[in-house]
Amino acid sequence: MCGVGLEFFSHYDRIRRLFSARVALGLFGCFGSERCAVGATCVVGLQWGDEAKGKIVDILTEKHDIVVRYQGGANAGHTVVFDGKKYKLSLIPSGIFRPNVQCVVAGGVVLNPQNFIQEMDGLIAQGIDCQNLLISTRAHIIMPWHFEEDRLMNRTTSGENIGTTMRGIGPCYRDKVGRSWAIRLGDLYREEFPQRVKMICETKNRLLFGMDPEGGENRLDAEKITADYLLYADRLRPMATDTTAYLLDALDSGKKILCEGAQGALLDIDHGTFPYVTSSNSSGVGVCSGAGLPAKSIEKLVGIIKAYTTRVGGGPFPTEQDNEIGQLIRDEGNEYGTVTRRPRRCGWFDAVAARYTARLSGATCLSVMLLDVLSKLPEIQICTEYELNGERTSHFPAHVDDLRLVKPHYITLPGWLEDITKAQSWDDLPTNAQNYVRKIGEIIGVPVEIVSVGPDRKQTIFVK
Ligand code: IMP
Repeated sequence: MCGVGLEFFSHYDRIRRLFSARVALGLFGCFGSERCAVGATCVVGLQWGDEAKGKIVDILTEKHDIVVRYQGGANAGHTVVFDGKKYKLSLIPSGIFRPNVQCVVAGGVVLNPQNFIQEMDGLIAQGIDCQNLLISTRAHIIMPWHFEEDRLMNRTTSGENIGTTMRGIGPCYRDKVGRSWAIRLGDLYREEFPQRVKMICETKNRLLFGMDPEGGENRLDAEKITADYLLYADRLRPMATDTTAYLLDALDSGKKILCEGAQGALLDIDHGTFPYVTSSNSSGVGVCSGAGLPAKSIEKLVGIIKAYTTRVGGGPFPTEQDNEIGQLIRDEGNEYGTVTRRPRRCGWFDAVAARYTARLSGATCLSVMLLDVLSKLPEIQICTEYELNGERTSHFPAHVDDLRLVKPHYITLPGWLEDITKAQSWDDLPTNAQNYVRKIGEIIGVPVEIVSVGPDRKQTIFVK
C-alpha cells in the first residue's frame, strides 16, 4: 500500500512540476512556433462553416501526434495549400500530409466508404502516402438509400429548402438515432451483414416508394449493395479499428491530439439555426461525443472565424449583403462551395453570432481568416447588436423565426485599401487592419492569436 502511495505521489509531483514549468513558459497562452498544449486541442468553426479550418489544422498538425476528424461526413470540404499545390479534402483529416502524424476518423463521423476510398486514391496518385489512417468501427456508414432520402426530405415544414449537400448526411444520422436501420463500419465485417442489408432494403424500398411513387427506377438492389459494400469493406479493413480505445490510450501516454471540426457552430443540430443546420454537433460541444474523449482532456479550443460571414444553403442570415458588397466578397474570397460549388451567400461579420458560438464552444482563442479578402473595401461594418421587437440585444435568438426578424446594428470601421497578402507579422499589417482584428477580439471577448492573409501556410500571422 505504502509503495503505491509513494509512487502515486512522485508521479503527481512530476505532473505538478511539469505543469508549473509549462505555465512559466507561457505554453497555455498562444501558438508560437515551438508551443502547443498537451492533451487535446480543438479547431472549431464559429460561423456557418467554410471558415478555412483546414489551413489552421494543417499548420497546427506539426505540433501534434494525432489528428482526429470527429463529426459530419463528405458534406465537409477543406482546402490545404502548400508548396504551390492545392489539395482538396472532404473526409480525410488534414493531418494526412505529415506521415508521422496519425489521422483518425472517429465514431461521430458518418462515412461514405466510396467517397473515402476515392479521396484516398486521389491523394495517393498525388504522391501522398495514406498509411497513417485509422477509421472507427463505430462510424456509421452512408448507404445508397440515404441519398434518396436526402433528395426527398430536403424541405422543412415551412417550405424553404434546407439546401443540404445531398450527401445523405441527415438520413444517415437519422438512422443512427433510430438504431433499427443503422449500419456501422464494424457491421460490414460480420457474417450477418448481407441478411441485414436485405432486411433494411425491403423496408426502405417501401418507405421510398411511399415518399415518391414515381421513383420506381430507384429501387434498392440488396445483392448489388451488399457486393459493393463488401468490396469497400475489404479495402478499409487495415484501417478499421476501435479508435475510442486508441485515443484514450494515446491520452494516457501523453500524446498530443488535435481535433478537427467540420462545418461550423451555427450549423450545430442542437444549438445552431435549427432546422437550417447539419445533423451533427458541429460546435465545440460535439468534440467529446464525436471523438470519444473526456471533457477534461480538452486544453485549448481555437475558434475559427472568417473576417466576414458566409452561408451556404437556406435559412436566415441577418448580415447578408445580397448586393455589390456581397458580390465583391464572393469574388475576392472565391466563395463557392468546395464540395458542391454552390455560390456562398456573403455578408458583414456578425459579432453577435460569433460571440454566442465562441462562448458555447468554449473558445480559448480565435483565428481570423481571409482578412485579405476585405482589402478593397473603403469601409467595413461589424454587427455588434440585434434589434428584436424594438429592443436591442447582444444575444443570439434560439428560434429561427426570431432570427428572421432581427435588425442588425453595425459599427463602421475604415478599411485599409492595400494588399496585405505579403504581411509576415502583426506589425506588417496596416493600422486599420490591426484595429479591425482587435475590435473583433474585443467584442467576442476572446483573444485573436492567429490572422490569415492568404491560402498558403506561409500567409499566417501568429499574434503575440
Ligand atoms: P447537410 O449537412 O448536407 O445535411 O446540409 C445541411 C446544411 O448544412 C445545408 O445548409 C448545407 O449547406 C450546410 N453544410 C453542410 N456542410 C457544410 C460545410 O462543410 N460548409 C458549409 N455548409 C455546410
